[in-house]
Amino acid sequence: MTEAPARAGSMAELAFPPGFLWGAATAAHQVEGWNANSDWWDWERRPGTPCRDESGIAIDHYRRYRDDIALLAGVGLDTYRYSVEWARIEPAEGVFDEAVLDHYRAMTDAVWEAGLTPMVTLHHFTLPRWVAARGGWMDPGTPARFARYAERVVRALADRVDWYCTINEPGIVAWGGYLGALDFPPGRTDTRSWERAIEGLVAGHRLGYEAVKGARPSARAGLTNQLIEWEPDEDARPFIDWLRARTEDVFLEAARGDDFIGVQTYTRAVVRMGAWQSAALRLSLRSRLLRDRVLVPQIRRQALDPAPALPPGARRTQMGYEFRPEALEATVRRTAAVLPGQAIVVTEHGIATDDDAERIELIDGGLRGLHAAMVDWVPVKGYIHWSAFDNFEWVKGYSQRFGLIGVDRATLERTVRPSAQFLGRIARTGRLGPGGPVPG
Ligand code: BGC
Repeated sequence: MTEAPARAGSMAELAFPPGFLWGAATAAHQVEGWNANSDWWDWERRPGTPCRDESGIAIDHYRRYRDDIALLAGVGLDTYRYSVEWARIEPAEGVFDEAVLDHYRAMTDAVWEAGLTPMVTLHHFTLPRWVAARGGWMDPGTPARFARYAERVVRALADRVDWYCTINEPGIVAWGGYLGALDFPPGRTDTRSWERAIEGLVAGHRLGYEAVKGARPSARAGLTNQLIEWEPDEDARPFIDWLRARTEDVFLEAARGDDFIGVQTYTRAVVRMGAWQSAALRLSLRSRLLRDRVLVPQIRRQALDPAPALPPGARRTQMGYEFRPEALEATVRRTAAVLPGQAIVVTEHGIATDDDAERIELIDGGLRGLHAAMVDWVPVKGYIHWSAFDNFEWVKGYSQRFGLIGVDRATLERTVRPSAQFLGRIARTGRLGPGGPVPG
């Protein structure tokens, strides 16, 4: 669907249009606790697991969602993006748990009652154990099974939900678990598995999209795409183009014509390569054997490096990658160039840090860039921050603090951080004050 762009206010007043969505996001496995029927639960416990922690109780959001939603509404946000968990809803093939669907209905009612708009993600990284056992996204039956589950959820939530994200960051699911670049399940590390997973995820999105629209034609559906601000030098460019086609562009194409596209951006990658290295890599692109023997180990080494080289003077986040507020504008503009006229929602943007002032700086810088893009008629419909709460950061466990709201690991006590107040104030006023971030 193509929508007329919303014109933002002039640069001087930095006003955002009425109806712009202001929110925060979570994902079921990262916050709910005891997601014991999922592939990730098993991955955390596997002998020799790459995971730092077990997710366990997470932040107990499955039980505490009412208080958590009240905190988000209390600071002034108007949108809550969260995921429903396939592994809970369909614990065995074709068996749908009505009590769990009731839970998500009640949770969604609570979101509305608090004055927030729900945005529901149908798949955020985790699979039911029984789907994983058949090969996960490599199994040709998975897309149709995903669509059947999606339809069931959309029918259960009925008129409560107008925004659906089908699959969260399919590029990361494939790259992380099937090429092994993030040490995600199922732990495959070859290009054939990677290609099959990409195909499955593209088909899953398309069938999922149709399922959502079939069950609720007025809902807006789209996928959420992870995008990096890539900056390769000339020698690195052919290799980065090859990589980006498979991690980002294939999913932009899969999203063409959807009701919206979600953009999720965390950083920039400046890639410098010597001519020799470039020649060797280009050669390895030519055959599958070389790709698997030469390229994949190199990609994995770089992707799993906890402290990759950064450009001189660059700051590093807890995650190890560059602190780069400007990356959001770059990726939003690129998305708009590839999918002209298609509505864009920033469905994630955030930072892991112990210094909340840095989070405020990231939000402020990101929003200034977003505003500049909107002044150029890029049709951005909302900004949703990752994350609402400190949570379980996959392989890195509880070591990363992404929350607008902090969560004490020992007591699970919540603390609203100044960054939450900062974003809430922007949400309430629709304006970003001049002169840089002012906390509080
Ligand atoms: C994912 C989240 C994750 C966040 C921070 C995104 O890739 O959607 O699940 O926690 O980035 O790493």
